[in-house]
Amino acid sequence: MQLRGMSLADVDAVMRIEQHVHAYPWTRGNLTDALNSDCVCKVYEVGGELLGYFILMPAVDEMQLLDISIAAAHQRKGLGRKLLGEAMEMARGMNMRRMLLEVRSSNTAALGLYRAAGFREIGLRRGYYPSAANGREDAIVMECVL
Ligand SMILES: CC(C)(COP(=O)(O)OP(=O)(O)OC[C@H]1O[C@@H](n2cnc3c(N)ncnc32)[C@H](O)[C@@H]1OP(=O)(O)O)[C@@H](O)C(=O)NCCC(=O)NCCS
Repeated sequence: MQLRGMSLADVDAVMRIEQHVHAYPWTRGNLTDALNSDCVCKVYEVGGELLGYFILMPAVDEMQLLDISIAAAHQRKGLGRKLLGEAMEMARGMNMRRMLLEVRSSNTAALGLYRAAGFREIGLRRGYYPSAANGREDAIVMECVL
């Protein structure tokens, strides 16, 4: 098991997961932009197989969690919890005061993961996301003091 920095060589494998687990996935351009920015982009591998990743964006003393995803076949085995824990530990190591994120109001898996990790809801952005079912969907804004 290994957590390591994401590189351009990982983009194909990351995009395969991204397109499979999100209704509105990041584009390849979004991902390469993140890799070429200050974002902290990490992949999680087991036996050479890329099973998940996260992308964090630092802003002064706040860390924004932009994406965390686990390959569909490996979900619900504790990997998301482990990866989020690593992301929070990394943010603490960078002296970040809190972690922030936005999540679709229908994303019960992610909401469960974040609440279990100590995040609380601090806001709502109405109609923030596109949604095939409802036209638009709210974003719940969450924070965790690190
Ligand atoms: C959200 C996600 C990362 C969770 O990863 P995971 O490895 O499946 O989660 P874990 O097995 O570590 O579960 C941790 C906790 O999250 C919650 N959870 C995870 N999946 C859930 C589900 N399908 N339904 C309800 N709660 C869920 C539970 O509280 C769970 O704890 P428990 O197993 O003790 O009940 C994963 O579902 C995923 O990749 N989803 C698609 C991408 C996404 O929506 N990312 C977040 C927004 S960017």
